[in-house]
Formats: sequence, C-alpha cells, structure tokens
Amino acid sequence: MARTIVVDHVGGPDVMKLVDMDPGKPGPGEVLLRQTAIGVNFADVHYRRGTAPPHAMAKLPMPFTPGLEAAGVVEEIGLGVTGFKRGDRVGYATATLTIGAYTDMRVFPADRLFKIPDGVSDIAVAAVMYRGVTVHGMIRSCYKVKPGDNVLLHAAAGGVGSIVARWAKHTGATVIGTVSSEAKVDYARAQGCAHVIVTSREDFVKRAKELTNGIGVDVVFDGVGADTFLKSFDCIRRYGMMVSFGQAAGMMDPVDPVLLQHNGLYLTKFSGSTYNEVTEDYQFRAREVLEAIAQGVLGQGNCAVYELENVAQAHRDFEDRSSTGSLVIRL
Ligand SMILES: NC(=O)c1ccc[n+]([C@@H]2O[C@H](COP(=O)([O-])OP(=O)(O)OC[C@H]3O[C@@H](n4cnc5c(N)ncnc54)[C@H](OP(=O)(O)O)[C@@H]3O)[C@@H](O)[C@H]2O)c1
Repeated sequence: MARTIVVDHVGGPDVMKLVDMDPGKPGPGEVLLRQTAIGVNFADVHYRRGTAPPHAMAKLPMPFTPGLEAAGVVEEIGLGVTGFKRGDRVGYATATLTIGAYTDMRVFPADRLFKIPDGVSDIAVAAVMYRGVTVHGMIRSCYKVKPGDNVLLHAAAGGVGSIVARWAKHTGATVIGTVSSEAKVDYARAQGCAHVIVTSREDFVKRAKELTNGIGVDVVFDGVGADTFLKSFDCIRRYGMMVSFGQAAGMMDPVDPVLLQHNGLYLTKFSGSTYNEVTEDYQFRAREVLEAIAQGVLGQGNCAVYELENVAQAHRDFEDRSSTGSLVIRL
C-alpha cells in the first residue's frame, strides 16, 4: 500500500488527509516508483484551496492527490518501457498533467521521467527541478536574460525567486529582488540579488528606478500578482518586458493595452505547462537544470524539510510567507 495524501474538497491545509491506497500496477509505457523526496510548490497551495486559475481548477479531478514533482527509484517496469530498469534513480517535474506526487509509491509515465546523475541528491531534485524547468523556460525561452540586463524579481527569497536570482546572476545580469521583510534580505542576497528591496518599508518602483539611473529594468519577473503586477509596469525601461508567472497574492487586475504604449512595453503570462508540454522540450530543460545543479550554479537544494504526515505545515509556511527557498517532503 502507498501512504498518500488525498483532498476531496478544496479548503484550508487540513483538507489534506493521509490514507493508504493501492498504487496499482504499471501499464504500457509506465513504471512503478518508490518515491524518496517530494517537492512542495506554491501551485499545490493554489490547487488545495481552489485559487489556481479557473481553467486549471476545471481540469482537476476530485478527489485528487496534490504534488507536481518527486525523486525516487524505479520498482517495476510496464510493457514497452525502454531506457529505464528496476533500481534506477529517477525524478520528474511535470505540471498538472501528472499531478499526484504526495505519496510514497505511484505509477508514472516513463517518457516524463529523467535519470538522476551521480552527485545530485534526491532532495536537490525535489527542491529544484519543477522550479528549475519553470525558470529555464522563463529566462532562456520566454525572455532571454543576457549579460548586462537589469532584472526586477519579486519574492526573490522564495523557491522560484532563488533559482531565477542564481541563474540570472550566473548569466551576467544584475538582479534587483523584492522581499516582504528584513528577515529575508540576507537569504535573497546569498542567492545572487545585487540589490534587495524590502517592500514593507520601501517603494519598489521608486527604488528600482533609482538603481537603474532612472531608466528602468529590462524585465520584471512577477510571481506575486495582485500586489505587484500593475505597479511593476512603472519600473520597466522603454521596450522592456513584463513576465507574469504567478499570483501568490491573488489574481492580477486586467491590463488596458494603452498602459503598454507609452514605453512600448511587452507583456506575457508565462506557464510552465505550456513551455514544457512537448516532452522533448521538457526533457531538454530537465537536462540543463540537472547540469546546472551538478555544476553548483543552482545549489544542491537549500530547503526546509517536512514529513508527509506534516505537509499541512509546509502549506501554512507558504501562506504566512515565512518560508525561504524550497520546501521538500523527505520519505
Ligand atoms: N507559471 C508557472 O509555470 C509556475 C511554475 C512554478 C511556480 N509558479 C508560481 O511562482 C510563484 C512562486 O512559487 P514558489 O513555489 O517558488 O513559491 P515561493 O516563491 O517560495 O512562495 C511564494 C512567495 O510569494 C510572496 N508572496 C507575496 N504575497 C503573498 C501572499 N499573499 N501569500 C503568500 N505568499 C506571498 C512571498 O514572498 P515575500 O513575502 O518575500 O513577498 C512568498 O514567499 C507562485 O506564484 C507560483 O504559483 C508558476
């Protein structure tokens, strides 16, 4: 039997119940995984409380098991699976397509798995991979960050924020991060932010303009949404870009296109589900993220660790904004 978290109605963290379930047998193209580490993402909070975008909520089965990524070991191989064998260390970091990671055993499609190289820990995979393939899509495909860019990054001490900061700095950009409290400043700096703005005591628009000599930043990466989205347009330079990729604080207000015309700005809403839908693209991004972990660019998963039975606490830590870096369940 598999120890599995099940949600049968949306609500607070306590709607997540731990039950024993039969994980089933792998069908054609599938493997049975024994999981060792599971990533906890803000998206899991959105699905659990019903605040994911309506089109995503509409596709969610009910009851469901949350979770988008994990590391583990192959236990059984289904018909036609090549490239994997029993005992291989593997991971996955796919979006809603394969939701259901909060469990210790599960059946999973082999084509969305990757092998974990020696030197990369299971915890690092759970801490970095889903956010990593997201960030790869954002900074390599959606807006190609280049040396010399000024980047404004909201929630810079968060899980995605830490990875954007590390990777953009490594690429040669200057990262200006925002955080909500003084307590997160050192962490954001350690991830690669050249400047950190504390939003509880500073006006981030004014400060970002000052830090760029009045010109504005080349790009904003915004995963906060309601509180930061509209204001952020005022700190973007002429022909610069706004990449909205999340709404931790709530949905964004609609944008009048006229807002974009004065500085010729570009706006996009990034989704990893879109950028990683094609398996080859996803596998390419996963390889590059694993390489960046192995080379030390992204760290080895600086994260808070929880037990499966205590995952509600991880969700509370997200919702009260006390977490920094990634959150991981160790099995
Ligand atoms: N588009 C995609 O494909 C994709 C993929 C992965 C993640 N995401 C999104 O990226 C964002 C970051 O994800 P993550 O898992 O790494 O989470 P995270 O950044 O570790 O946590 C969310 C952060 O958002 C900030 N925040 C601002 N207002 C908040 C509020 N009202 N409630 C809670 N947090 C608030 C907090 O930082 P401060 O307190 O410092 O402001 C908090 O630490 C989320 O919006 C997530 O949905 C999108």
